[in-house]
Amino acid sequence: TDTTALEHFDALIDADERIEPSDWMPDRYRETLVRQIAQHAHSEIIGMQPEGNWLTRAPSLRRKAILTAKVQDEAGHGLYLYGAAETLGTPREELLDRLHTGRQKYSSIFNYATLTWADVGAIGWLVDGAAIMNQVPLCRCSYGPYARAMVRICKEESFHQRQGFQIMLELSKGTDAQRAMAQDALDRWWWPSIMMFGPPDAESVHGDQNMRWGIKRFGNDELRQKFIDATVPQADLLGLTIPDPDLHLDEKTGHYVHGPIDWDHFWDVIKGNGPASRERMATRVGAHEGGAWVREAATAYAAKRAAAAGQ
Ligand code: ACO
Repeated sequence: TDTTALEHFDALIDADERIEPSDWMPDRYRETLVRQIAQHAHSEIIGMQPEGNWLTRAPSLRRKAILTAKVQDEAGHGLYLYGAAETLGTPREELLDRLHTGRQKYSSIFNYATLTWADVGAIGWLVDGAAIMNQVPLCRCSYGPYARAMVRICKEESFHQRQGFQIMLELSKGTDAQRAMAQDALDRWWWPSIMMFGPPDAESVHGDQNMRWGIKRFGNDELRQKFIDATVPQADLLGLTIPDPDLHLDEKTGHYVHGPIDWDHFWDVIKGNGPASRERMATRVGAHEGGAWVREAATAYAAKRAAAAGQ
């Protein structure tokens, strides 16, 4: 019966064991995982756009090769994550349809334009840095396929973070114009990066339940704080200024205290009104429609082979 199944599920969660696709699970556990994993997959795929814009303009062949590898990694992450979401019973076409019709979200951070080469550095340093902070705990997520996908993703993200920091380091040691470019990128990416962790815990609708189910291991505010504490000394090392006049170290707690976050802006961005939101969605839908013939050809070929094998 469902009661025994629920007891078994609760016992696995309490023992910090993994839930696998063939295990019974409550509908809401399944739904919240489909929501989060699909949102995560969509973010990886849409996240290819802002950096993809710089592939042809990277300042050297070496930088171009590194950036190409990084953008390809993001595509790979999206594919593992769609695979993990599919183990919960929702096909990929359906997940993509939910994205394209605005029924599922992708991360707020990918709704900003990349105006200069320094933005590629700032994305690696801050955005991938924030992603790692949020994703390392997901390697211990209670849902097995998601947790296992996160292991490789986190390794690749840490390479991405280092390449971004290295771009920032080089610019910060460069000419006045290069330092100014690095500072300008930090000014534009700082607040969106700390918003990435999601709303304050008091407004996090899924937070408590997801902590109880072992999907989340830390609240949004706690991870945001860890990220700020780790990043301030890195900005100091770069000789750059974080654009928050209220930011200061609390000697008693050892944590940095930040100024107020503009949550109205955050909610507006995730409703589709970010500076580059419309462009991101139009490019994504266009790529999907433009790729229809590839999917059709692959399906026709697979059917032909299956028919030939059956003869
Ligand atoms: N961008 C867009 N939507 C967000 C964001 C964000 N940065 N943060 C929170 N939200 C949405 C939530 O999805 C939820 O909306 P929904 O119910 O319509 O889905 C709402 O805001 C309230 O948030 P929470 O209740 O706190 O949601 P949750 O408990 O799922 O926590 C979080 C949000 C931290 C983003 C979580 O889902 C998570 O860890 N996801 C996996 C990581 C991820 O997706 N990273 C993507 C960017 S990293 C990268 O790709 C480089």
